[in-house]
Amino acid sequence: MRAITQTLTDTVSAAFEKCGYDPSLGTVTVSDRMDLCQFQCNGAFAAAKLYHKAPFIVAGEVAAVLADEPMFAKAEVVKPGFLNLTLRDESLTALMRDIADDENLGVPQAEKPETIIIDYGGPNVAKPLHIGHLRSAIIGESIKRLARATGRKVYGDIHLGDWGLQIGLVITELSRRHPDWPCFEPDFPEGGEVPELNVDLLNEVYPAASKRSKEDPEYKAAAQTATFDLQNGRPGYMALWREIMRVSVADLKSNYGRLGVDFDLWYGESNADRYEPKLLDILTSKNLLVESEGAKVVEVAAEDDKAPMPPVIIKKSDNSSIYATTDLSTLIQRQEDFDPDRIWYVVDKRQSLHFTQVFRCARKAGLVRDDCELEFLGFGTMNGSDGHAYKTRDGGVMRLSDLLDAAERAAAEKLSASDFTEGADLSGTARKVGVAAIKFGDLINHRGKDYVFDMDKFLSFEGKTGTYLLYTVTRINSILRRAGSDENAPVAAGRIYTDAERELMLAILLSGEAFVKAFDEKAPNYICESAYDLAAAFSRFYHDNHILSETDGDKRSAWLGLCALTKRLLVKHLDVLGIEPVESM
Ligand code: ARG
Repeated sequence: MRAITQTLTDTVSAAFEKCGYDPSLGTVTVSDRMDLCQFQCNGAFAAAKLYHKAPFIVAGEVAAVLADEPMFAKAEVVKPGFLNLTLRDESLTALMRDIADDENLGVPQAEKPETIIIDYGGPNVAKPLHIGHLRSAIIGESIKRLARATGRKVYGDIHLGDWGLQIGLVITELSRRHPDWPCFEPDFPEGGEVPELNVDLLNEVYPAASKRSKEDPEYKAAAQTATFDLQNGRPGYMALWREIMRVSVADLKSNYGRLGVDFDLWYGESNADRYEPKLLDILTSKNLLVESEGAKVVEVAAEDDKAPMPPVIIKKSDNSSIYATTDLSTLIQRQEDFDPDRIWYVVDKRQSLHFTQVFRCARKAGLVRDDCELEFLGFGTMNGSDGHAYKTRDGGVMRLSDLLDAAERAAAEKLSASDFTEGADLSGTARKVGVAAIKFGDLINHRGKDYVFDMDKFLSFEGKTGTYLLYTVTRINSILRRAGSDENAPVAAGRIYTDAERELMLAILLSGEAFVKAFDEKAPNYICESAYDLAAAFSRFYHDNHILSETDGDKRSAWLGLCALTKRLLVKHLDVLGIEPVESM
């Protein structure tokens, strides 16, 4: 299905044309005064300038043509030249039916096929997953689902930080603790065995090593050498690295699993390694690589830069590769494997400069198709109530698993204090409610903004919260159940009985617009707003209309059909947000 404003724009454009005006003047938008009309067109003002006529006259001519359109109840001119449009109830209910019958529930689909790679998550192997990686996971997952829901082919790539200094640090620390392990011997055989590691050990080893390297220059140098040797394939280190990867990836999978986040590709910086020679070839053959203080760099400054733009370092003076090198090499891999139309990076906005450099270098070197969109989708910080980056009580970095545990506990408390349905699955529900609260509390903010993490607020049954949305779904479930119906209750086309019913239909109709806008702006907060509008419209509808006690059979079944459609659409919104509904609560 097309977005309703698209359909209306076609009709109104044709009317402009019929009156002898440019059809592009007929753009229709959602009304900002719903009390006056549902849609509006302000094209008469631009027409007035172009054709030297009063806007009121132009709008009047167009309205006269639209008067013959059966879809409108009203197409009227309001001074000084607004065109106010309202659909006939029959048009609105027919659209409800179309949406209910549409496999995408009225969400407009991309016109041309597109392949998108979304680089998100980006955790660092061997370091515990902490809440700094939470936003990337939540936002990236949602943008991935949004792109899919609007008909794109999408690959989510976790892009593990699995090839850097943190591994060198872990190797160094383990070699100091266990100098006797054969993997530390220079002649360790290819394919040799290493002792089994576990996640608790890694969680303890990395911080210890990181702390020590800050205090002890010799230790730090050893860790850098270990990193370099690893990257050059030293067999004992490679074997240890594989064991670290095995343990870390299993732990990451379980944490992301709890959060309902999953990736199509578990590639990492290490996978980029084999594309590096090609990168160097391309950069050399295009004369882009220059020496600077012993390092090999690419200049990416542009004349009109307002701020200094440092060159991208490709090889440091010790010949090691860095962050930009792997990101550039990864672009070669992505182009070869997927020939994508867009590549999006969901990363902390403080990395903006890095991505500007990488994208400029990639363009200069032609690493991806010229028309492949490279975009950095930076996000802000999750703060505590003190306005600073969220920390544990003792000021440390909170582990993601601890945060999820705390959310679950808080949700369970909240549910037990409310009239939670007896006999229902409290712990399973609390798990979903906790995750929903965290995700919605994050996604309701535009991704670029910082926000304050406030579990109490996120768990509120009222207002713009995940909890309220889940609750609304359970309310609809209960109505349908009590009426002996289900989410497939048919939607009736024809009459509308009450204003609240009409407003709910309008909220349903406008959902499709929200999906388009959210995709265009890569901003899931519009899905949150649309979900809330839908739930709030439903609450008013439910309050005003006594569905279960209604004795008029036609009315009752029309309302049940509307309940069912609302539920399906709300669940679709939630799905895009990565939130699982609960049966009852
Ligand atoms: N591992 C990085 C970090 O923790 C994030 C990776 C983001 N993705 C990328 N392609 N650079 O900062």
